[in-house]
Amino acid sequence: MRFWHLVIVVIAIVIGSTFRKNQKQEMSRKVVVIGGGLAGLCAALEARAAGAAVTIIEKEAKLGGNSAKASSGMNGALTAPQSALHIEDSVDLFMKDTLASGGGLCDENLVQTLVQESNDSIYWIEQQGVPLRSISQCGGHSKPRTHRIAQDSNGRTTPVGWGIMRTLQKKVQDDNITLMLSSSVAKLITHQDKVTGVLLQDNQLVEADSVILTSGGFAGKPKDKENTVLKEFAPEVTHLATTNGPWATGDGIKLGQDVGAAVKDMDKVQVHPTGFVDPNDPGADTKFLAPEALRAAGGILMNANGLRFTNELGRRDVVSNDIFQHCASANDASLAIAYLIMSEEAVNKYDRSSISFYEHKGLFHQLAGIEELAKYMALEPSILSKQFELYDQEAKTGGDQFGKSVFPSTLNNSMAYWVAKVTPSCHYTMGGLMIDDGARVLKEANMNQYTPISGLVLTTQTNTKYTGFFAAGEVTGGVHGRNRLAGNSLLECVVFGRIAGKNAAGRSH
Ligand code: FAD
Ligand code: SIN
Repeated sequence: MRFWHLVIVVIAIVIGSTFRKNQKQEMSRKVVVIGGGLAGLCAALEARAAGAAVTIIEKEAKLGGNSAKASSGMNGALTAPQSALHIEDSVDLFMKDTLASGGGLCDENLVQTLVQESNDSIYWIEQQGVPLRSISQCGGHSKPRTHRIAQDSNGRTTPVGWGIMRTLQKKVQDDNITLMLSSSVAKLITHQDKVTGVLLQDNQLVEADSVILTSGGFAGKPKDKENTVLKEFAPEVTHLATTNGPWATGDGIKLGQDVGAAVKDMDKVQVHPTGFVDPNDPGADTKFLAPEALRAAGGILMNANGLRFTNELGRRDVVSNDIFQHCASANDASLAIAYLIMSEEAVNKYDRSSISFYEHKGLFHQLAGIEELAKYMALEPSILSKQFELYDQEAKTGGDQFGKSVFPSTLNNSMAYWVAKVTPSCHYTMGGLMIDDGARVLKEANMNQYTPISGLVLTTQTNTKYTGFFAAGEVTGGVHGRNRLAGNSLLECVVFGRIAGKNAAGRSH
């Protein structure tokens, strides 16, 4: 009897110590995240929550990337904020809109994950401390579902990207995640087909059990350098200005391709219809973005003859092409400038404090009534009043000659008008590294057959856990196809960033 007691005690000790050892190994799993934008911070926070030791490597001196510039919002269907505003939406409708905009090129599996996780993602962002209670219906959406931060009680608004990034950055610091700023990743290190770490530009090696690539897209204009990735894949847009920061140079595409990652839709670059033309620097390479939410509040577009020429809430590629067609400069067909005009009602609907910000920057002009607006545009006032009357009339009957069916505000008889000059600008790169719905980076195994770059790690018979090489956010391709819907990028960063973080830390998904 004593002998069997002893055997049982020894077995219990052995099992206990193996369990503790496994747990310890899991606790100390090292995850390296390349890029400190939204996808990167979401991945880092989830990996840390799952017990990993996490390092974020960011080439700029501060976190943020293009994520901190976002101003229209983040999409979600069936969310609590939608419900509070009595907006009826569905995951199926959201999926349909996203696929329609993608023009047959979306990876349906990824879109399914995107839309299904959208409600939880909005909830997660709110749980981090960023309420998203103002909702717009942007171009190509059949329902209002683009969520941003509402005005506070003093009538002030925090831009959505900046607000989210500021809050998550604080969480990253509180969670003891290691930050390496001003550190550029130059190479991924591999061992037996597995990504095992990264090499920095200064030759420093950082080892990792899992690497998550969240280095953003390639629509930026680096200072004093060429954007070689944009030039290689979409040379036809390199002459256009950009809304991106200079960091968006596609480093992640090169890093991924060097270890065999497959890419998709690399020539699909989104040209946003409305980059602000700054009267003090009209030829600037980088433009401040006139957010789509301005048009979602009722902003209209006109050409120099005072005529509307497009459905302002149509798809971005269509609106941009219409601007090129109807507003081209007589001297240079590739340069096209339209007028973005908002009535008092539209300004109030969007948010007056943000418009004042643009006005302060010299990007919007406030004019008292149609006479002043006509003078600014060098037109007869009657041309504008006829157009504005027609617009309001068409709004009443529920449809216009350009197919607009949502009329957020009226135009005629406004006490004041706000006007800005806008031009199509490179904005977003739909293409990128191929991933699966576990955010694992894929390589081509056979013709059109893809497999994750590093294999699965099976930990128990019932539970599959992954380590290896992941990617999320704008560095990836497949979610948006030919044309991304407004608000789907912030959502993509949260959905796939979180999945990547959990999986990289070895938590099953
Ligand atoms: P980013 O946020 O760009 O972060 C990538 C980071 O990686 C950068 O900080 C970069 O410096 C770093 N990095 C790059 N290479 C390296 C390297 N070699 N080593 C280390 N670090 C590296 N989308 C929406 O859904 N809604 C919006 O309202 C919206 N508004 C937008 C407004 C503007 C002006 C712009 C430009 C984009 C907007 N978008 C919007 C798109 C969206 O903001 C971005 O696509 C998204 O935030 C990209 O997030 P990310 O984390 O993938 O990359
Ligand atoms: C915008 O504000 O127009 C940009 C939104 C987006 O790119 O999703």
